[in-house]
Amino acid sequence: MEERPKWSSQTGFLLAAIGSAIGLGNIWRFSYMAYQNGGGAFLIPYFLALVTAGIPLMILEFGLGHSMKGSSVLSFRRIDRRLEWFGWWMPLLVMYGIMLYYTVIIGWCLNYTLFSLNLAWGKEPASFFSETFLRKAKGAWDLQDIVGPIFVSTGVVWLITWFICYKEVNRGIERACKIFMPALFVLTLVLVFWGCSLKGAGDGLKFYLKPDLSKLKDVSVWTSAYGQIFFTLSIGFGIMIAYASYLPRKTNLVKNAFITSVVNCLYSFIAGFAVFSVLGYLVYAQGTAPTREAFENVVKEGAALAFVTYPQAISELPAFNRLFGVLFFLCLTIAGISSAISIIEALTCAVTDKFSVARRKVVSILCATGFLGSIVFVCHSGLIWLDIVDRFINHYGLVLAGFLECVFIGWILKARSLRKHINAVSSWNLSQIWDYLIKFLSPAILGTIYVMDVVNIIKKGYGEYPTKTLLLIGLNALILSFILATVFTIYPWRRKPELVIHEPEEDKVLV
Ligand code: TRP
Repeated sequence: MEERPKWSSQTGFLLAAIGSAIGLGNIWRFSYMAYQNGGGAFLIPYFLALVTAGIPLMILEFGLGHSMKGSSVLSFRRIDRRLEWFGWWMPLLVMYGIMLYYTVIIGWCLNYTLFSLNLAWGKEPASFFSETFLRKAKGAWDLQDIVGPIFVSTGVVWLITWFICYKEVNRGIERACKIFMPALFVLTLVLVFWGCSLKGAGDGLKFYLKPDLSKLKDVSVWTSAYGQIFFTLSIGFGIMIAYASYLPRKTNLVKNAFITSVVNCLYSFIAGFAVFSVLGYLVYAQGTAPTREAFENVVKEGAALAFVTYPQAISELPAFNRLFGVLFFLCLTIAGISSAISIIEALTCAVTDKFSVARRKVVSILCATGFLGSIVFVCHSGLIWLDIVDRFINHYGLVLAGFLECVFIGWILKARSLRKHINAVSSWNLSQIWDYLIKFLSPAILGTIYVMDVVNIIKKGYGEYPTKTLLLIGLNALILSFILATVFTIYPWRRKPELVIHEPEEDKVLV
C-alpha cells in the first residue's frame, strides 16, 4: 500500500495552510466588507468571530485530519459511516460553488497586472471595468458570449493550478507556497509603506480605523463578519482537514492552528492599510474634503473597490504608478493561486482515499471540469452570476457547514475525545473551554446567524435581482453540491476505509 503523502517540514505545512487562508478574501473581500460595514467598527465583530468560531474550528479541523489521518471524507466516515456524505459535501461545495468564480477573479487580476503596464483603464476606470473589460450584460440570463481576454486568463489560472497540484504535495504545493508566501509578504509591505507615504493617507486610515458603532446594531454586519471569517480561514472547506492529515504524529496542532488564524487575520488588517491609505490619497487628489461622504463617493460598488477605485488611484499617483499597479495585482494573483490550489488538494485527497486512482489523473480531471464550469462566469453576465453564487455559498453554504461540523464533532465524535488526541500530540494544551465552544457557543451563534440570514433574504431579497433568478442560480448552486456529494457517497469504496491508514499501528490514534 502506498504511503500517505507528507509535508517535508512543519514550516512547509504552515506556509501551505497560511497560503490557503490568505487569498483574494483578505485583500479584495476584507477591505470592501470593512468598508461597507462601518470601517473600524467591523473589526469588532470580525475579531469576535475569530475568537468564538475561527480559532476553535481551525483547531478542530487540524485535530480531526490529524487524528483520523484522512481527508474530510475518510475522517467523517471514520466517525460514523453516515457522515461520509458531509465529508464530500464540504469540498464539493467549495470546488463547484466558489472555486469556479474564484479562478475567474484571479484571471481578472492577471489581466489587470498587464493593464497596469500602460494604465489601460484610462480616465474612466468604472466604465472600463464594466463595459470595456467585462462587457457586462443587463440581466443574468443575457449570457451572450464568452469574453475573450477573460477566458484566456482564466485558462492560464487553471493551468498554473493544475501544474502545481500535479506534483506530489511536498514538491508541488509545499514548494510553491514556500516561494509565494514570503514574496507576498514582502510585496504587501512595500505597498503598505508606499501607500502610507502618500498625501491624504492619514485621512484614509482614520476612516478605516475609526469605528462607526451605530453599524453594530445591524444584523447583517454580524453575519458578514462570521461569513468572512469562514471564507478567509478556509474553514468548512475540508482543506485544513486534508492538509493536517499529511502531518507527522508529533505536531503542535494548537500552536499551528493559532498561528495560521492569527497570521491570516493580521495580514488582512495590514493589507487594509495599503487599501485605505490609497483611498485617502484619491480623495486628496480629487481636492475634496476628507469627509465620510467623500469616501463613500469614491467607492460606489463594493466589489469594484479593487478593479475600479484602485486603478483610478493608481493613475493619480505622483510617481511609478505603473509599478504600483503591477505590484498590487500581482499580490492579488499570488494570494489567489495559493488558495485555489488548496481546494484541488482537498478533493484529490478525498478521491484518492476512496478510490484507487492515480493522483495525477484526479488533478487533471478536476482542473479540466473546473475550467469548463468557470466558463459561465466568463460570459457577459458573469458578474451577476458571481455575485449571486458568492452570496448563497458563503452565507447559506459555509456557515451551515461550520454549524454541522460543530454538531458532528461536538456531539457525535465528542469534543472531549478529540481534545484528548490534540493534547496528546501538541505542546500547547487545550482546556475544557474548547469543548464548550464547539458544543454550545459556536453552533449557537452560527445557527442563530443562519436563521436570521435566511429570514433576511426572504424578507428583503438580495440586490435588485428577481426572486426567480436568485433561486434558480443561487439555490441551484447549493443543490448541485448536494447531488454531487450524494453521488460520490453512494459509489462503493474501492479501498477498505479501515485500511487507508499507511502508518504503523500505534499511530492510529482514534481515541
Ligand atoms: N481563504 C481564501 C480567501 O480568503 C478562500 C479560499 C481558500 C478559496 N481556498 C479556496 C476559495 C479555494 C476558493 C477555492 O480568499
